[in-house]
Amino acid sequence: MTVAIKVENLSKKYIIKHEKKSGNYETFSDTLIQGSKNITNKIRHPFSGSNTNPETQEEFWALKDINFEINQGDKVGIIGRNGAGKSTLLKILSRITEPTSGKIHINGRIASLLEVGTGFHPELTGRENIYLNGAILGMSRKEIKAKFDEIVAFAEADKFLDTPVKRYSSGMYVRLAFAVAAHLEPEILVVDEVLAVGDAQFQKKCLGKMEEIGSHGRTILFVSHNLTAIESFCDVGINIEKGGINFYGKVEIALKNYIDLLSENVKNIKISERKDRAGDGNIKITDFLIENESKLKTSMFEVNSKFLFKITYESINKPHNARIVIGVYDTTGNGIVRLDSDITGGLPIFISEHGQIQCVTENIPLAPGRYSVNIAFFSNGIIQDHLIGVDYIYIQNSDYFNTGHIFNEHDAKLMKFLVKHNWNVL
Ligand SMILES: Nc1ncnc2c1ncn2[C@@H]1O[C@H](COP(=O)(O)OP(=O)(O)OP(=O)(O)O)[C@@H](O)[C@H]1O
Ligand SMILES: [Mg+2]
Repeated sequence: MTVAIKVENLSKKYIIKHEKKSGNYETFSDTLIQGSKNITNKIRHPFSGSNTNPETQEEFWALKDINFEINQGDKVGIIGRNGAGKSTLLKILSRITEPTSGKIHINGRIASLLEVGTGFHPELTGRENIYLNGAILGMSRKEIKAKFDEIVAFAEADKFLDTPVKRYSSGMYVRLAFAVAAHLEPEILVVDEVLAVGDAQFQKKCLGKMEEIGSHGRTILFVSHNLTAIESFCDVGINIEKGGINFYGKVEIALKNYIDLLSENVKNIKISERKDRAGDGNIKITDFLIENESKLKTSMFEVNSKFLFKITYESINKPHNARIVIGVYDTTGNGIVRLDSDITGGLPIFISEHGQIQCVTENIPLAPGRYSVNIAFFSNGIIQDHLIGVDYIYIQNSDYFNTGHIFNEHDAKLMKFLVKHNWNVL
């Protein structure tokens, strides 16, 4: 297999300045353009004669000793918490920022779609930027011309073609930037979180386009917090955590690791081996899993999904009057859903010494976010086994109302359920 990207001992250090004594005012964007060496040197050099105060500076390693290889044709999802170093890595690979140390080898033409503000020249029009980007990718004017209409159509940007891109809204900017990067036939496509900016319809369109590009054997690196998109689109996953690689491998495992990391209250050890349990202990829950409607074990669900909970247990005798309670809690510990076999009925008076019990719910319109699951097993009214944080549920933010709009992260935190409703002017 041919290697498309090889990264060796890559590190990136930023200098963070906390306070400025006087004059010589440097803006945040000055710090951002860290590639410009004279600024960096001025900050770092204690005898440079500048009036920076060393005590107000701090070194920060955004990436530390990163190593990996990506094969040609791989579709790689990069996930990690805010500030983990994902964008920094993409910027280095796209040669927008220099690494502090280490090496990268790139085999093929790379096009990248990074945060708004990179890639396009703000003073130039959309049209001019299309040509400029094509030229940077090494395409001839003729080649670009051949792709031009497709780009404009994809971005739906015909009205804005002759407007300088600095006047574009962030949504428009991203549309055009994505269209350019996707249509100029790069061998490697690097995409950072565009899906967060465009509306839901455009997001779908981007994912569709990326799939098409990927199916032609191109290499794609895709950073996103949209785990469903990563899961459906990528085959390789890289978890970045505090500037280091926490996991590299199959995307399903990468996602599971990542969600585990997010769910601090969910233990990473086998349920049968957990010691943090309460109850008389005559019955022991040995396994617990959640499946979706297609009977696939997963933690990730769409809004308004059915849940299948499966509890495996063993007991010293045939449990009499068994009762199981499953509680679903939000991240602040509020109870959101409670499933109680005593209230609904359904369990026989006696159940066997060991076995599996399933609880299937109707569709629950849980709001996007992370939930954890607790479980309690009773017999004859006495609690036998109780586990907190036995599993987690991650509800993906999506275009649930089919309007092309989705709740932003902040609003999604303000609710527990998504409820379909209508608006009328009376
Ligand atoms: N130019 C800069 N100067 C100083 N610090 C920076 C600079 N760029 C990034 N950082 C810091 O480096 C760390 C990694 O940032 P990066 O943008 O790579 O994170 P990320 O994983 O993309 O996060 P997010 O998910 O929020 O986009 C952060 O702590 C960030 O504050
Ligand atoms: Mg980022």
